[in-house]
Amino acid sequence: MTATESRSGLSLPHYPLPADVHPPHLFPDYRSTVSRSPSQPPLALRQELTEVTGPLLGQERVVPLDSDLTQQHDYEPIGQRIIVSGQVLDSDGRAVPDTLIEIWQANAAGRYRHEVDRWPAPLDANFSGLGRTMTDSEGRYRFTTIKPGAYPWSNHYNAWRPAHIHFSLFGRAFVQRLVTQMYFPDDPLFLYDPIKNSIPDPEGRERLVSSFSLEQTEADWALAFSWDIVLRGRDATPFESEVDAK
Ligand SMILES: [Fe+2]
Repeated sequence: MTATESRSGLSLPHYPLPADVHPPHLFPDYRSTVSRSPSQPPLALRQELTEVTGPLLGQERVVPLDSDLTQQHDYEPIGQRIIVSGQVLDSDGRAVPDTLIEIWQANAAGRYRHEVDRWPAPLDANFSGLGRTMTDSEGRYRFTTIKPGAYPWSNHYNAWRPAHIHFSLFGRAFVQRLVTQMYFPDDPLFLYDPIKNSIPDPEGRERLVSSFSLEQTEADWALAFSWDIVLRGRDATPFESEVDAK
């Protein structure tokens, strides 16, 4: 761990990412990385007071309905109701409490409620696909949602993304934000997905796949998937180098 000092004299810890755990900026099979990956080495920028101190979205801005994506409209959305839960851990296996987790996902038909998503799958008036919650004192989180569908994308002919949920985690400041994706077990599209396959370590790829959790299911109500997120170290959950809309 190194510290980055700001002009204010405050400093943020900086944690270098192991190169063989996280995906590279450039992965030609993932076509858009060719045009957006940097051609020059990164420059370290001095951080201002704004980046170092926040503002952070804390508990006071998060309400219980934010973590139940099936209750945010007049009626329930179409789809398989699921519970997604887990724990956020640091490199020593310690729980990370009070951290904001945001998720976004496609609906059961595989379509996002977003203006650039125009493929001919139905929108669901009762599903926005956005959720957020804070981890509790043991670093645990829990969302209720519906299982997202697979969707086509323009990376190559007949390209389909495996079903997934996007996750964003905030640390102590905006500059520590981490973004990744959670997958569902045994998806036949894994083999053909260059985003998942851009992660160099096969074990790292598997760390993005949730597990079916019978003990977290609710009888006559919802299936459940469990997924822990490790922020740093050799067992880290692979994170994206920048936010990706896919
Ligand atoms: Fe996506």
